[in-house]
Amino acid sequence: MRTEIQQLCEAQGLDPGRIPDHVAIIMDGNGRWARERGESRVFGHMHGVDAVRFSVEAAMELGVRYLTLYAFSTENWSRPKEEVEALMNLLVDTLVQEIKELGAKGVRLRTIGDVAALPKNCQDQLQEAEKTTENNETIDLILALSYSSKWEMVQAIKMLIESGYKGDEVTEEVVTKHLSTEGIPDPELMIRTSGEHRISNFLLWQLAYAEFHFTSTLWPDFGKESFFTAIRDFQNRERRFGGLLDTNHNVAAQ
Ligand code: FPP
Repeated sequence: MRTEIQQLCEAQGLDPGRIPDHVAIIMDGNGRWARERGESRVFGHMHGVDAVRFSVEAAMELGVRYLTLYAFSTENWSRPKEEVEALMNLLVDTLVQEIKELGAKGVRLRTIGDVAALPKNCQDQLQEAEKTTENNETIDLILALSYSSKWEMVQAIKMLIESGYKGDEVTEEVVTKHLSTEGIPDPELMIRTSGEHRISNFLLWQLAYAEFHFTSTLWPDFGKESFFTAIRDFQNRERRFGGLLDTNHNVAAQ
């Protein structure tokens, strides 16, 4: 009998055997989406929450195991105080409203970034949401909050020095273990909305071999169909990891 994932893949023209394990998204364009409607930027962020919901649902329907969302960058602290406050409140309100349902669906909430820099009520809600969902295994929803890749790398270097590592003991594996994504496989696909073609200090180490999907769709308009389109685009790429493909289009053995 065909599974629900197989049926959905057939309907969407997707190969169920090549669904990426980890998808990362730079959710961009909330401000422009709001401006087009003569509304405040916060209005755009509020509608951005719906798009978050759609992407989590689409990812779960396809069996994506990890979904990382760039929700607030280190650089976002420089935005007007009112916008930062509104984003933090939105995060808390969303967590309070959605966490039970997400948890019941098997979502495990995790965070990466300088979470200690967030307001106390945000930290408390996040901690509670992480605790109540920690045993879930359907999908890990990883929120990058007060996150930047350069910050993360500096933290890793500090930890290595403090732990007394010698130069020749520092390997790729060791660095990987000291990043906030420790234990999480690297994303195979990174999506950025709103027509920008930048990586903006997001997972610089972890995206080394990821495929990038750029779309002009503004984040609040990014629905399930947009997510499926991104996966189709991913499946049309030849991933060689710097090697060559054999006649079956697999990476040839060295
Ligand atoms: C970028 O759009 C978006 C953000 C900085 C915030 C993203 C936040 C959300 C989608 C809502 C809350 C998220 C969760 C997980 C509940 P922008 O403001 O830079 O847009 P612009 O480039 O058009 O100005």
